[in-house]
Amino acid sequence: MSGNYTSLRLFEELRDAGVISKDVFNDLCDKLGRLLKKIDSTEINWSDIRDEWDFAHVPETERVIPMNAANLCPAPTEVVEAINTFRTEYNKNVSQQERTAAGALAIQDARYAIAEELGLVEPLGDGEPVPDVVDLAIVRNASEANNALNAGYSPWNPDGLDNIVIWNENHPTNYDAWWLRGGRTANEEGGLFEIRVVTLPENASSEEIETAFASQMNERTKFLTFTETSNVSGIRIPRSVISNLFKKANELSCHLHVDGAQTWGAQKVQLSLDEAADENTFLKCHSFSASSHKWFCGPKETGILYMDPSKAANFTPSIFAYDYKITIPKWNELPNSARRFELLGQRDDVNIVAMLVEQDFLTEIGQEVIEERIKYLATNLKTELQENDWDLTTPLDENLSHGVVISKVPDKPGQPSLYDYLYDQHRIATSSSGGIRICPHIYNLEEDIDKVVSAMNTWRNLP
Ligand SMILES: Cc1ncc(COP(=O)(O)O)c(C=O)c1O
Repeated sequence: MSGNYTSLRLFEELRDAGVISKDVFNDLCDKLGRLLKKIDSTEINWSDIRDEWDFAHVPETERVIPMNAANLCPAPTEVVEAINTFRTEYNKNVSQQERTAAGALAIQDARYAIAEELGLVEPLGDGEPVPDVVDLAIVRNASEANNALNAGYSPWNPDGLDNIVIWNENHPTNYDAWWLRGGRTANEEGGLFEIRVVTLPENASSEEIETAFASQMNERTKFLTFTETSNVSGIRIPRSVISNLFKKANELSCHLHVDGAQTWGAQKVQLSLDEAADENTFLKCHSFSASSHKWFCGPKETGILYMDPSKAANFTPSIFAYDYKITIPKWNELPNSARRFELLGQRDDVNIVAMLVEQDFLTEIGQEVIEERIKYLATNLKTELQENDWDLTTPLDENLSHGVVISKVPDKPGQPSLYDYLYDQHRIATSSSGGIRICPHIYNLEEDIDKVVSAMNTWRNLP
């Protein structure tokens, strides 16, 4: 019955444990089994894929087209239905026996499925029990994951001369937050450590990006941290650059943290600590954060934090509560792994089940196929914008960009902003970040690209 789908296997376990009824189990298997089997990754019909989302079934005149994946993505209909079904079932039995057993199973399975996609563990054989992955924590979102680092790190040298190197395009949770934790730039007074902010030159090449970061690092650099694909410019730091910076970070005993909020779900990510691993394929870092409700199209208020086990003990978690089995470790014997960030007390089990369902869905399509589709749509969009004289902030080069596309917007006093105009008049959801930010995903079709560019041209021609 369960085939290779981790979610269906979990449903079987939950049925056998009496957490969900037989009828509910059958219903879930029917729906999800049908959804997953419908996908033929060798010949994807993108219009059929779009139909897996609710918005595609809203009458065209009322439909809001999602093109703001950098902020929030809708989850496929079946994932939302699974969440609703589970919520009702879980609400029937709140006993600790069932909750701890079911919750622990769900989080263990979700962690494994996600870790497998991230290249942290090997695929399991038929019937093999699911091991407990300790290097990946399921947390609330990328904001929480980023803050676990900047708030959790305490071994600063009291002389105040340690430094961190960050990109001026980092998200506030990985930028301003460092000031909140006591850092100051060299121009500012005092501080627990120095913040060195890197601004990239215009139209920076891979080499210039690498030099910009590497030239700021020295033996007192404790962190190098940047967003893999910037939410404010769409610039992507190529894997080869990350590989070289990872090597340099290791030479200096510096921690490389990558904010993957615009990466996970949009690109194939294979995390690695192996400096010798292929420099263009692997994303080498000591920690990686992301949210499930962005490109992963998963449930809200879930995210991931991967942590190199040799670095985990450097961070004191801000939340000390019990884990999924309602077990509290001794305060001075916290796990030396990402697991220390998962001592979060009572959680929303249903959302974690939904992450697993979503991972099965994405795996069935294939993360490489998804990456290629996003690249194709984003390239079309950039090309159309350029042909229509829009001033792109995001590079055309596919090695230096991915799904986040940003264009500058001319001032048009007295007119609605382009962002409001696209939403109010054309029902297209974008963002005004950096001008206009448009992020096509696998639920978008070429016609959406044509529609948004045409609407932008109309707005520009408004008197
Ligand atoms: C690069 C980056 N990091 C972190 C975040 C925070 O994500 P969340 O609000 O899901 O925690 C965002 C949100 O847009 C982001 O773009």
